[in-house]
Amino acid sequence: MAECAVYLDFAMENEDPPHGIARGLTNYADSAFALYLRRSFAKSLGYSAELLAKPVIGIASTPSGFNNCHRAMPELVEAVKRGVLAAGALPIDFPTISLGEVFLSPTSLMFRNLMAMDVEEMLRAQPMDAVVLIGGCDKTVPAQLMGAASADIPAIQLVTGPMMTGRHQGERLGACTDCRRYWSNFRAGKISAAEIDLVEGSLATTAGTCAVMGTASTMACIAEALGMSLPGTAAIPAVHADRLRAAEASGAAAVRMIRQPRPSQVMTSKSIENALRVLLAIGGSTNAIIHLTAIAGRLGIPVSLQRLNELSDTTPVLVDLKPTGEYYMEDFHAAGGMAAVLRELRPLLHLECISVTGETLEARLDSERNSYSDPTVIRPAAEPIELLGGLVALFGSLAPGGAILKRSAADRTLFEREGRAVVFDSLEDLAQRIDSEDLDVSAEDFLVLQNVGPTSRSGMPEAGYLPIPLKLAKAGVKDMVRISDARMSGSAFGTIVLHVTPEANLGGPLGLVKNGDRIRLSVEQRRIDLLVDEVELDRRRAAKAPLPGAPSRGYAKLYSDHVLQADQGCDFDFLRADPPTISE
Ligand code: FES
Repeated sequence: MAECAVYLDFAMENEDPPHGIARGLTNYADSAFALYLRRSFAKSLGYSAELLAKPVIGIASTPSGFNNCHRAMPELVEAVKRGVLAAGALPIDFPTISLGEVFLSPTSLMFRNLMAMDVEEMLRAQPMDAVVLIGGCDKTVPAQLMGAASADIPAIQLVTGPMMTGRHQGERLGACTDCRRYWSNFRAGKISAAEIDLVEGSLATTAGTCAVMGTASTMACIAEALGMSLPGTAAIPAVHADRLRAAEASGAAAVRMIRQPRPSQVMTSKSIENALRVLLAIGGSTNAIIHLTAIAGRLGIPVSLQRLNELSDTTPVLVDLKPTGEYYMEDFHAAGGMAAVLRELRPLLHLECISVTGETLEARLDSERNSYSDPTVIRPAAEPIELLGGLVALFGSLAPGGAILKRSAADRTLFEREGRAVVFDSLEDLAQRIDSEDLDVSAEDFLVLQNVGPTSRSGMPEAGYLPIPLKLAKAGVKDMVRISDARMSGSAFGTIVLHVTPEANLGGPLGLVKNGDRIRLSVEQRRIDLLVDEVELDRRRAAKAPLPGAPSRGYAKLYSDHVLQADQGCDFDFLRADPPTISE
């Protein structure tokens, strides 16, 4: 009888707007029939009519056997469900594709836009009043935020959290900065094959995302800086009980935000700028500038590299984490996490920005005024690690549209110099020749890698961290200037100029560089110049044959036909908001 009463009262489709499972009915040209049918099928899932009358909170779940970073996803989903139920709504989880960084070929970036489209369309097509997005590994959080920005239904980001460190012969190890350090030692013959085998088993020892301030952790911090995650949740380790409590709280918060705020009210030009400040202060991943540009682009908010430089000039590096510093994400969390970073940056931030809780950043920071912080890991603004921000954009004749250097991870003795180009025209060419004894190269040369940008066959892989040629590595060379239109892992380090725009594959000057050309780098002047005259460049341009191998079908064709350059976030041209939809 009670069921019947609920059924008769169940007129959600007549509400304005409809809520819960009455939202977005399947089109049968008879909405009453569509609701009856949907409710009937929902009951086959075992839900009572009482529960089906409640608001629905979607949970975008991304477990995958190919994504170790999301290993704890089932526990997180259950915890979110608890929070939603306790707050009086119906939680319904659903899958989207999952992107496990090291399991994808040719590179995960190529599939970020596919996942973003999946998220956007599923948020729009399925009946939910708000959504908790659970991601973690590098490309998943950007994809979820891009999709949520476009769908613009109330959304809250929950991250899986970072891994704990492992141990090798008494030394702490964390994926994946230490992966690269040990691999470099192995290549240089400093450690044995048996030892690298042991290291392999100690680098990634728990569920969660990489243990350093790589792309995943950077994006987790950015999500919190944007206001899209609950305060204090970015850095909680994946295996910590607080991570489950954060999930439960995210579920409850989603119920409170059923009408608003929407992503377009949280992610504004000012909160994007706050996120850029945080990116610079934490010495975050170069990938994050691409992702943040893509997220902002979904809302019609431009992110210019010139503005990045202005912010970088006035934002100190505060966080002493690998790959640029000493510590790991578990230390960052214990040292106060994002609360400490935001408190130190307070004079530089737009305090009127709101988070998904509806609270302003000012109110948050006031309430956290006396929270703990450890200055050995998160420095006071008055005693920064570096006075200037971690990233800098370079412009010049080699990169008219800009390039990125992570100066906090680079060797500053290489910042002002001119060098001879040693050119590799593809990944295959690099693999074949980099370790050859015959390679004509010295430590003063600039290594140049071409044709690995967004539209290339390799899809802008994290290949910008070119290995030091073996004969130089054996001689003790640890860093060289390296230039490409590729990306670099957030956990890598070195004097590496990335994201050169326009890319070589689209006729950018990078593709015209030849062995022996001179290139001048000046970080102080923010310039990277190819010292070859225009007449000669025109001659080379005219003689250049188009590269073979453009994809002819499927997603690869869609990608190569529509992906934008790095300075526009490598999103698809048809997915950016145009005209702007800023709702400040
Ligand atoms: Fe997933 Fe590093 S591989 S975060």
